[in-house]
Amino acid sequence: MMFTRLGLWPTLRCYSSSCRSGRISAILRDKPLHQTIKVNGWVKAIRRQKERTFLDVDDGSCCQKLQVIGEPIEETYPFKARKVHPPDYVRQFPHLRARTNSFSSLLRVRSQTKLAIQQYFNSEGFVNIDTPIITVNDCEGGGEVFSVQCLDPDNTGPGKTQDSPYFGQETYLSVSGQLHLEAMVSGLSKVYNFNPAFRAENSQTRRHLAEFWMVEAEEAFLSGTEGLHSLMDRIEGVIKTSMETVIDVQQEDVALYWRNNNKTEELIKNALNQQFVRLPYCEAMKLLQQHSHLFQTKPSPGSNLGKEHELFLTKHLGDVPVFVSDWPRVTKAFYMCSQEEDPEMVLAVDLLLPQVGEVAGGGLREYRVPLLHRRLQQCQLLDKLGWYLDLRRLGGGTPSGGFGFGLERFLQFLLGISNIKDTIPFPRWMNHCLC
Ligand code: 4AD
Ligand code: MG
Repeated sequence: MMFTRLGLWPTLRCYSSSCRSGRISAILRDKPLHQTIKVNGWVKAIRRQKERTFLDVDDGSCCQKLQVIGEPIEETYPFKARKVHPPDYVRQFPHLRARTNSFSSLLRVRSQTKLAIQQYFNSEGFVNIDTPIITVNDCEGGGEVFSVQCLDPDNTGPGKTQDSPYFGQETYLSVSGQLHLEAMVSGLSKVYNFNPAFRAENSQTRRHLAEFWMVEAEEAFLSGTEGLHSLMDRIEGVIKTSMETVIDVQQEDVALYWRNNNKTEELIKNALNQQFVRLPYCEAMKLLQQHSHLFQTKPSPGSNLGKEHELFLTKHLGDVPVFVSDWPRVTKAFYMCSQEEDPEMVLAVDLLLPQVGEVAGGGLREYRVPLLHRRLQQCQLLDKLGWYLDLRRLGGGTPSGGFGFGLERFLQFLLGISNIKDTIPFPRWMNHCLC
């Protein structure tokens, strides 16, 4: 056996030559006997005894360490076990982070979650669409966009200056791929994307990032209240199926998080074992107003819900996921479809999860040309979104609906992580983009 010192942390590389190599997860699973297997990994602990040395070796493939028994190592061996407890601010230095057990677990769970979500959509017949990162619109209309600029004036074209936009017009990092998915849903019926999204909002909270990953789906032929319920079935379907898969495939990693916070396990099981509650906005508002004394910001009809309201609803209704549907038009983006009976209400839905709040948002899209035209005009978006109106004017105007959900908030729920910055390897938030 040979040891080589590596890196900043008390880790070693350990191997024996001329034999087949294996990952620790496979060795622990298959328990091969009477074979010599080469393992590359990091020694996380050493226990010295007179006769032999015990090493705990980790290669990142699973939670467990491989115990290796070796020859005795002298005290003078140039390796000093040094326990390092990364302080909380370590999340700002992502290159130092992957050394804690729970962070390795997070990365494995995150990776499996992305896979499980894609497997779900694939098995349901959805086509994956790569929607662009650079766009000319602010889909949500909130103005929380980062603009894209070219710094080298030579690259902006003949006769242009540094202030001339590279694309001939202002461009932004995408806040959502929804409008592009809508352009693709005609003819394909079921489409989805899985992209980073960028928002220049106040990302100093425990549930906002400036760069996060969002899965968005769009389905044709959804209309009216029935269509909105199909959309809720779809959101519930993808959330439950991917949770089940990840809990099954990454059992030990998930358990590591649940051990630290046993309320999480109860919440997840609660969510998996029953239908998510469905509550129209007006009923949610009545409930909130009945408990108005509990809130810093008093709930008022026609306004959006704050985090305290969202958390109250999930708790009050039994610590369960809650869909809030049928929102006032003024609380939602220009593209939401108005109800037939009351055009001031739209067929929109938010999914609220216990302890986290809003994790998914979506709704049916306004497909009626005159209504959409008026909305775009009111929001002064006709110039930029003429192409979006054309999808209805010239493309047939198939009614469709869709939603987006944030991967990081979903991981917060699944693993009981209180700060969203701990769900992503390289978090970006206001004043923080260090490497
Ligand atoms: O509710 P949002 O803004 O919806 C949309 O973007 C729609 N265009 C989606 C669609 O219908 N295709 O964002 C969707 C989800 C939120 O519910 C939340 O989970 C997540 O994206 N999200 C964020 N996650 C982390 N940091 C932020 N700053 C986030 N903003 C939204
Ligand atoms: Mg939303």
